[in-house]
Amino acid sequence: MELSGVTRRFRLGTGPAAGDGRVREGFFYALDGVSLAVEAGEFVLVCGANGSGKSLLMSVIAGLDAPSSGRAAAEGRVGIVFQDADSQILGETPREDAAVGPKNLKLPRDEVNRRVDGALRAVGLTAKADFPARFLSGGEKRRLSLAGVLAMDCPVIIFDEPYANLDFPGVRDVNAALESLKGAGKTVFVLTHELEKGLALATRLVILASGRIVFDGPPEALPSLRERLGAWGIRYPLGAYMTVGDLLWR
Ligand SMILES: Nc1ncnc2c1ncn2[C@@H]1O[C@H](COP(=O)(O)OP(=O)(O)O)[C@@H](O)[C@H]1O
Ligand SMILES: [Mg+2]
Repeated sequence: MELSGVTRRFRLGTGPAAGDGRVREGFFYALDGVSLAVEAGEFVLVCGANGSGKSLLMSVIAGLDAPSSGRAAAEGRVGIVFQDADSQILGETPREDAAVGPKNLKLPRDEVNRRVDGALRAVGLTAKADFPARFLSGGEKRRLSLAGVLAMDCPVIIFDEPYANLDFPGVRDVNAALESLKGAGKTVFVLTHELEKGLALATRLVILASGRIVFDGPPEALPSLRERLGAWGIRYPLGAYMTVGDLLWR
């Protein structure tokens, strides 16, 4: 997966100009010269404050949005688990919902059933496979969105704010699912403003601020960023004597 010099800008109306350097010549630069090359099997934590450009970056990687300039390329399908699970659930039941993707791929019916069963089992929804999807809890709906992506067997999977509105067991469930995808060799992107929840799983940390990549390196470099995180709108999560490895929620 490679982005080179990706810029995505939106024309502004006549309102007041924002003051953070993202406004130039009547455009708001939501992504501003983003270059990122990610190899198969990497686990990239993309961290940034609200509005830094995470969701837009995801849309560009997945081909749902086109850059205004620059180039984006991905080998193979990119699966997305959206922040708002409700907008992603299309079926009346989990079984029906998880089948939407594989059916669109025009797979034979046996293969669709095999994938749906496997995906629902992987996210722990087998018992509720024929339950009305609208009555699932928030965490279960998010797991169902993941099942849909698993059933498509995408080599690259992007999670947009997977920890939003989840309690401690919910965060642990998400991390267990992320860890097993990592073990299966998938390329994983986790977009979050909650650095501490996913960092210990990551092999790479990318920090976005005002539409630009301001850091790209190993998670272990976090202590060296301590003084700069506040300016990027991110809380420093380590206490005295803690390491990145201590952060994992499980
Ligand atoms: N279609 C759009 N039109 C205008 N502005 C947009 C559009 N999509 C995103 N933006 C702006 O781009 C910036 C980045 O948005 P987004 O990627 O959603 O941020 P994040 O996911 O990091 O919170 C925001 O300021 C947002 O308002
Ligand atoms: Mg977002």
